[in-house]
Amino acid sequence: MRIKDFAVERYFAKYEFTAKYLLSSSDCDGYGMDYVLGLASDSEKQLWENLKLGYTETVGSEFLRVAIKQHYETIQLDEILVASPGEANFILMNVLLNAGDHVVCMAPMYQSLYQVAKDIGCNISYWQPKIEQGRWYYNPSDLKSLIQDNTKLIIVNFPHNPTGFSPSVDEFKYIIELAQQRGIAIFSDEMYRFLNHGCSALPSASDLYENAISLWGTAKTFGLAGLRLGWLTSKNKQLLRRVESFKDYLSICSSAPSEVLGTIALNHMESFVEPNLAKIKDNISNFQQFHQRNFELFDFPKPVSGSTAFVKLNIKESSMEFAERLVMDTGIMILPSELFEYGTSHIRIGFGRKNMPEVLNLLESYLK
Ligand SMILES: Cc1ncc(COP(=O)(O)O)c(C=O)c1O
Repeated sequence: MRIKDFAVERYFAKYEFTAKYLLSSSDCDGYGMDYVLGLASDSEKQLWENLKLGYTETVGSEFLRVAIKQHYETIQLDEILVASPGEANFILMNVLLNAGDHVVCMAPMYQSLYQVAKDIGCNISYWQPKIEQGRWYYNPSDLKSLIQDNTKLIIVNFPHNPTGFSPSVDEFKYIIELAQQRGIAIFSDEMYRFLNHGCSALPSASDLYENAISLWGTAKTFGLAGLRLGWLTSKNKQLLRRVESFKDYLSICSSAPSEVLGTIALNHMESFVEPNLAKIKDNISNFQQFHQRNFELFDFPKPVSGSTAFVKLNIKESSMEFAERLVMDTGIMILPSELFEYGTSHIRIGFGRKNMPEVLNLLESYLK
């Protein structure tokens, strides 16, 4: 299978480790090893100190799956499959979809969530947002109108990257019902789970519907992107077994140290989520003040969840031209909407970095 370049990742490859300031990252600052190990209970410390660096179970070590299970209502140990998030997504699309299948997904969206389906040869319908009361809004009725008789899969991502949208719990349940009544599978990317600052957290789709597959991991909620750890949860065990079998051709199993560190994080989730949420809220408030001082330059639909916003520029040049000029002149890297295949006038802003006030000061001086 030939697959189109992942535009956002290629752009990060160009600038992430050379640009001085990152203003568009979707992850929060990574926690240090000392922080993670400092939270460990005696038994978790023992797990770390006695760790053998051999292979781990393909489905994920049992202690890790036990730590994952506690964050779901009904999911059992054999309804969890550990894989890095991109791998999990890639495999799932490959075992679930065939050329010609109809798939509904959100736009804009994290590219791999639709690109794999597209390159398999699926027909994709895009659920588009509107601005309502100054915020991004994906209307569930619009989603309903996109469903066809041959729709095989609905792909959603809440909290949403890049808009920061989340539906209400009732709207989420309505979306699940739409799929359930028609026997359509749902892939629910829940990577930003519990990063809710203006709305209620959602239940996991995998707890609500037997043909839902949820994805979560340590990168966003926990600020532990470097573990490269994620997992699928689903009541559809047969499907998970097919994913497991495909995984033999890719990573086979997860990194043993990541499994232990991920277990510690899952067992002490509040100690990761609360500082991340506090930082995101502070940065949203800083950005709001920055917007008030520069309101003619851009529109700011305030996010209610997640760690990003999708902001509309009211300037003559395209987002890509502005992004390139900005990074060259100031060392500030931003992501233009061309990379999301969403026009030429938006940029993504990330709120998970401690140095955001400093970067905004620099940006403001540059814009003057
Ligand atoms: C919506 C969404 N899903 C999946 C991922 C992949 O997560 P990871 O970086 O841990 O592979 C990302 C990363 O940005 C994301 O934003």
